[in-house]
Amino acid sequence: MMVRMAKLEKFRSQRWLDRNDFRSFNHRSRVMQMGYDPKDWEGKPVVAIFNNWNDYNPCHQHFKQRVDDVKRGVLQAGGFPLELPTVSLGENLIKPSALLYRNMLAMEVEEMIRAYPVDGVVLMGGCDKTTPAMLLGATSAGLPAIFLPAGPMLRGMSRGQTLGSGSDAFKYWDERRAGTITEPQWQSIIGGIARSSGTCMTMGTASTMTSIAEAIGMTLPGAAAIPAVDANHQRMAAQAGRRIVEMVHEDLRPARIQTRDAFLNGITVAMALGCSTNAIIHVIAQARRAGQDISLADFDRISREVPVLANIRPNGTSQYLMEDFYYAGGLPALMQRLQPYLRLDALTVTGKTVGENIAGAECFNDDVIRPLANPVYAEGSLAVLRGNLAPDGCVIKPSAMSEKYLRHSGPALVFDDYPSLKKMLDDPRADVTADHVIVLRNAGPKGGPGMPEWGMIPVPQKLIDEGVRDMLRISDCRMSGTSYGACVLHVAPEAFVGGNLALVQTGDTISVDIPNRSIHMEVSDEELARRRAAWTPPPARFARGYGWMFTQHILQADQGCDMDFLQTQFGEGAGEPDIF
Ligand code: FES
Repeated sequence: MMVRMAKLEKFRSQRWLDRNDFRSFNHRSRVMQMGYDPKDWEGKPVVAIFNNWNDYNPCHQHFKQRVDDVKRGVLQAGGFPLELPTVSLGENLIKPSALLYRNMLAMEVEEMIRAYPVDGVVLMGGCDKTTPAMLLGATSAGLPAIFLPAGPMLRGMSRGQTLGSGSDAFKYWDERRAGTITEPQWQSIIGGIARSSGTCMTMGTASTMTSIAEAIGMTLPGAAAIPAVDANHQRMAAQAGRRIVEMVHEDLRPARIQTRDAFLNGITVAMALGCSTNAIIHVIAQARRAGQDISLADFDRISREVPVLANIRPNGTSQYLMEDFYYAGGLPALMQRLQPYLRLDALTVTGKTVGENIAGAECFNDDVIRPLANPVYAEGSLAVLRGNLAPDGCVIKPSAMSEKYLRHSGPALVFDDYPSLKKMLDDPRADVTADHVIVLRNAGPKGGPGMPEWGMIPVPQKLIDEGVRDMLRISDCRMSGTSYGACVLHVAPEAFVGGNLALVQTGDTISVDIPNRSIHMEVSDEELARRRAAWTPPPARFARGYGWMFTQHILQADQGCDMDFLQTQFGEGAGEPDIF
């Protein structure tokens, strides 16, 4: 009987709200308790608006108001909008790492979609991990979903100088350490670098991930670059509200959009943007949730083919930021130029293909969005390296580092934890030269835990005083997408689980050859076997709670850092049974 009724019901929410039984009585009376009338929902799709907002997430401060624009759109299109606030991951303020909580947010979104009477979903996110987290959850839940990017903040400004999130914090911190800027200048930078709601406005992880979401087809065209405080952002929010209602009627689910072609488009666009290294982890996780086989090899292959066209910091030498990118035409303009590399038939949330969405897109500034014939960087922004130091791979961002380290050999200077590293960094008499290769380990998925963004290890004070601004650094953690420098990241397997990174010793020669994609420690296999026999695992980071669950089940960086038990596809195993 239940199965027959489910087939007759047009919307999933009717199982809760429109049945002639006692449970439905309870559900209806409780919705009416909030002042709604059956006319508000009967015969209409229920749209859950997952609002990723709290007072510790400055990037999403406008979401308190913006949700009203989404609701307006849902109502205009004949839907019933309800707001569901989620855990919010304010990247800058969460310790030890927002990645530790990405999967927690993903689980929350997935489970709340499944648990409540919901027919379609608007996902409001943008600050770094919130984008992949919400898309991971919605992908596994499988209902029609559209992503609403928070939009970048306005460009930073201090004493007439443009400031870029992260990148200028690192740059001016080094200058402060070198004594080249005054205290008033420093205070002006603190107050001017983040001066509106919205996500970091360099091509950091936030704009990388919202742009990938758009390229995959999970946002409205052009949505990723609209500044958070621009009135166009409000109109886009309302449009997303209208569109999700139509998507429910069309039964347009993520599984139809998130094909392998869609993810390849996402990677292609990411490379042309000079993306954050974090993209690799999140895209692999999302593709696996969608049942698509995407690996590090896809990133490296596409990186070799696709040039960097977006002249946005921290790539290139320009001052351009996301605001400039928006004025230049945003992602549709960039994708127009990338057409030879894109799968134009891929379906998107508009119900149209990528090709249809970008038809007629124009570029209004050829220096911000470069033509293919005049790229910022001839190859894509990321390189995947392999060798005996990283048998399962690691990554580096050649488009944002000094060319002199593209091929480099030097003695290792190894640190097992951040406090001992920091002691050396601050020591003006430290035994370190610009030829050294600084190694930080036990900072990976389990060891960090959650791969904190410590990978842009500061240049030691002693070398700063000598004028050095870049050197080779290696770790099993991540770095902010706004970072730059010759930093090898995501070494897999991580040291904490006995990866070869755990065996390198101070004084070993490490060789990195980015054009040939290799990373090697000059240590014989016999010696490595001896060191492995003597290695003992560090004590577990957690004994209880979410942290314990995370470290028990987290996969390595090359596999996207998802939980192993979340990889099952929707419909397999338990699926969504009609038994509750
Ligand atoms: Fe939120 Fe950078 S801190 S996007």
